[in-house]
Amino acid sequence: MDFHHRYFTMESILSISILIIFLCFGLVNGQNYNVFNFGAKGDGQTDDSKAFVQAWNAACGGEGDIKTLLIPSDTTFLLQPIVFQGPCKSSSIKVQLNGVIVAPSNIGAWSSPSLHKWIGFSTVSGLMLVGSGNINGRGSSFWEQNLKASQRPTALHISKCDNLRINGITSIDSPKNHISIRSCNTVAISNINLFAPEKSPNTDGIDISNSTNINIFDSAIQTGDDCIAINSGSSNINITGINCGPGHGISVGSLGAGGAEAAVSDIQVTHCTFNQTTNGARIKTWLGGQGYARNISFEDITLINAKNPIIIDQQYADKGHLDVEESAVAISNVKYVGFHGTTSKKNAITLKCSETTHCKDVTMDGINITMADGGKPKIDCQFVDGKSSDTDLMRDCFKNTTSSQSRMSVKNLSTFSTIVAVG
Ligand SMILES: *[C@@H]1O[C@H](CO)[C@@H](O)[C@H](O)[C@H]1NC(C)=O
Ligand SMILES: *[C@@H]1O[C@H](CO)[C@@H](O)[C@H](O)[C@H]1NC(C)=O
Ligand SMILES: *[C@@H]1O[C@H](CO)[C@@H](O)[C@H](O)[C@H]1NC(C)=O
Ligand SMILES: *[C@@H]1O[C@H](CO)[C@@H](O)[C@H](O)[C@H]1NC(C)=O
Ligand SMILES: *[C@@H]1O[C@H](CO)[C@@H](O)[C@H](O)[C@H]1NC(C)=O
Ligand SMILES: *[C@@H]1O[C@H](CO)[C@@H](O)[C@H](O)[C@H]1NC(C)=O
Repeated sequence: MDFHHRYFTMESILSISILIIFLCFGLVNGQNYNVFNFGAKGDGQTDDSKAFVQAWNAACGGEGDIKTLLIPSDTTFLLQPIVFQGPCKSSSIKVQLNGVIVAPSNIGAWSSPSLHKWIGFSTVSGLMLVGSGNINGRGSSFWEQNLKASQRPTALHISKCDNLRINGITSIDSPKNHISIRSCNTVAISNINLFAPEKSPNTDGIDISNSTNINIFDSAIQTGDDCIAINSGSSNINITGINCGPGHGISVGSLGAGGAEAAVSDIQVTHCTFNQTTNGARIKTWLGGQGYARNISFEDITLINAKNPIIIDQQYADKGHLDVEESAVAISNVKYVGFHGTTSKKNAITLKCSETTHCKDVTMDGINITMADGGKPKIDCQFVDGKSSDTDLMRDCFKNTTSSQSRMSVKNLSTFSTIVAVG
């Protein structure tokens, strides 16, 4: 290669490099939609909803592959109820939450406090909600007024989505659920924190309904209601590495309210901790429901003073509303494997199943639950068909109760034989 040729080459490389740098900068710049560029104040006082909607509309309507709605760090943005509406032009869109988003300071300052959601995303494909920032629903004024759950908003409500990813964010003091996932397919939620006081009403961590193919992992949920609740129409859900508590545990249900037909299947909960929760692994169904909840497993569960570490309640009913069972959500193929730790309640295991359907194919293995004071807990089972390698469990839970026996006689039977050494 001669000198001239080499010089020419270097010059080309240089100019191509400059061109590339310029293009990249232009591209990144063009595809980053910083809310400040759309008029957000970020002073924590001014309503920035309009700026956020404009930034979203620009990002959502923009061409190109990776578009980012940027919410910068070290800044607090106040948002009134807001919906980020799809579908968007591209197959994915990122919301980079580095800063803090707060709700109006109290219920009186909400523009529409009776809306069901504070921050909503609807019909968005490939939504990535990521970052180390947080959202604060400032729910205390809602909790104090003893409002019905239906009159309080969910902090983050995501519906009709596919390929959703949520990573890193924190939600604090939601008025009702922290996160609701409804009618979504293919969801990954990881490394998030959800915090609300133990006594805050209906502040479920993650509430899933009518959704499939969901992974939730490596997250901390400390709240006033279920850490995760799985509702009808949901299947293929894996939950692992969740540190739950305070809270009401991880629940399937409540299913079958008002005679509804439920369908929940293929739920796997593994390597989770229930730390001072009021329930652990719970399935609850309303009297009179229909449909099924099947293929559900809870495995490798650590208990720290959990109140009802294993519970099925098929007699869920409104207080004072009685309660002749005509139908029930059929529960089958449920596994409890490897429960270890302490409970705060003498009746640590309660399986109150339906007389109509029984709970079928229930397996319990490696259950080692002790009372915090070292005492041995009790087990209470009704209408459960299943098996265990533990002979005590076999004797006291999976006795062959057939539907020809009256409920009364089975109740008596179970009272006679409830005292069991577990573990
Ligand atoms: C459940 O989700 C599907 C799509 O995922 C939707 O078509 C259907 O309307 C949803 N049903 C309910 C009751 O929300
Ligand atoms: C959940 O785990 C099971 C097996 O461990 C796997 O077959 C299934 O695909 C997983 N589901 C999701 C949504 O990843
Ligand atoms: C039960 O669920 C697991 C994972 O959730 C899945 O791999 C398995 O195929 C399901 N089994 C049945 C019998 O449906
Ligand atoms: C359980 O909760 C208590 C009180 O919130 C906390 O101090 C403790 O570190 C938690 N334990 C684990 C193992 O997370
Ligand atoms: C049950 O747990 C206790 C306390 O953690 C432990 O000492 C004991 O060895 C365990 N028993 C079995 C059978 O694993
Ligand atoms: C339970 O008892 C009924 C009637 O006594 C019998 O038909 C059935 O096979 C028994 N089931 C099991 C699992 O032993």
